[in-house]
Amino acid sequence: MTASPLIEFIAREHPAFVHIPLGLVAVLPLAMLASFHPRHGKILTGTSFFLAGIGWVASTAALFSGLVWGRQINLISPSGFLPVVANEKQVLQKILQVHILAATTGFLIGGICVFLLWRIWRRDYSSGLEGADHRHHAGRRFWERGVGAPALLLGFLWLGSWGFSGKLGGIMVFGNEETNRAAAEADAAKRNDVEAELPIRALDYASLEPAEDKPVRSKAHGDRWRRIWVTASGIDAYKAGRPLPAGAYAVMSTFTDDKGKPGSEPGPLYMKETKADGTTAFLFYWPRVPEALRKEVSGQDSVYWRSPDPKLFTCLGCHEKGGSAAK
Ligand code: HEC
Repeated sequence: MTASPLIEFIAREHPAFVHIPLGLVAVLPLAMLASFHPRHGKILTGTSFFLAGIGWVASTAALFSGLVWGRQINLISPSGFLPVVANEKQVLQKILQVHILAATTGFLIGGICVFLLWRIWRRDYSSGLEGADHRHHAGRRFWERGVGAPALLLGFLWLGSWGFSGKLGGIMVFGNEETNRAAAEADAAKRNDVEAELPIRALDYASLEPAEDKPVRSKAHGDRWRRIWVTASGIDAYKAGRPLPAGAYAVMSTFTDDKGKPGSEPGPLYMKETKADGTTAFLFYWPRVPEALRKEVSGQDSVYWRSPDPKLFTCLGCHEKGGSAAK
């Protein structure tokens, strides 16, 4: 979705917009409480209705901007209304779900509250402007004065829901211990996932040191013609038949047919890396599998496997502990 600059602005400024309805609904209970005063009941009922009405209408803009924002930053799917929590680690998604539910609950309560206030306000004004406030209130029970107890209760519930939603919103924007820890864990997982960078490095095999000067047939890898390329940091160890040092890797480029003669096609790239912790990672990348060879890769037309994909366990069978496979 390419959003217009206006939509972009509305979405990004969600944390600012929400303060307008929230502020109005925060003073609403004060006006409501004051409306119980026998002298100022009518004027403060009107004020309460005004505050609640503006707050409620303003909140539709806040809800809309929140939804657009959530979709823009991919926390909510383009056609969805709530984030999907796929696993326990998605702290942000979990908080966002409750944030949205609390905001919507407040919106519904607010709607009823505005409706009640409107009825009371209309009754007050149609029952004659002629009477002074204290006369107007005469004969009413305490909880029927001003905006009335039910509307006051709804006002508090409304503020409570939005207050809670706002607190969670603050946590999502500024972070708390839990979100910060989750972010740190995600960062660490990314750093440890060395394979995240593998394909581009494997494709760049021609920048590595060739281990042999001409293609050789490799029985171990589908009887393809192959060449082996090793990082400068590992080429000596490789030639001496020792395991590659940490950080070094070897790539085997292959041809499906004879030595790259006309008509032959690039075969899969094989890669083997010794990671910083001494473990070995493998990669098998075959971007376009010719039709006749698809049976080798369970019928797929394109293959990209990387450790710890279980399909690479066969590699480990021959390449144990990062040592050069027995020749
Ligand atoms: C049947 C045993 C066997 C299997 C299975 C195997 N390899 Fe190998 N691999 C070898 C041997 C032997 C060599 C040495 C060169 C040669 O014979 O082609 C080698 C060499 C390599 C090399 C060049 C660096 C080196 O250590 O010599 C890479 C990279 C490689 N294999 C990756 C893989 C990957 C990735 C897989 C799994 C998709 C795999 N191999 C599966 C036996 C095997």
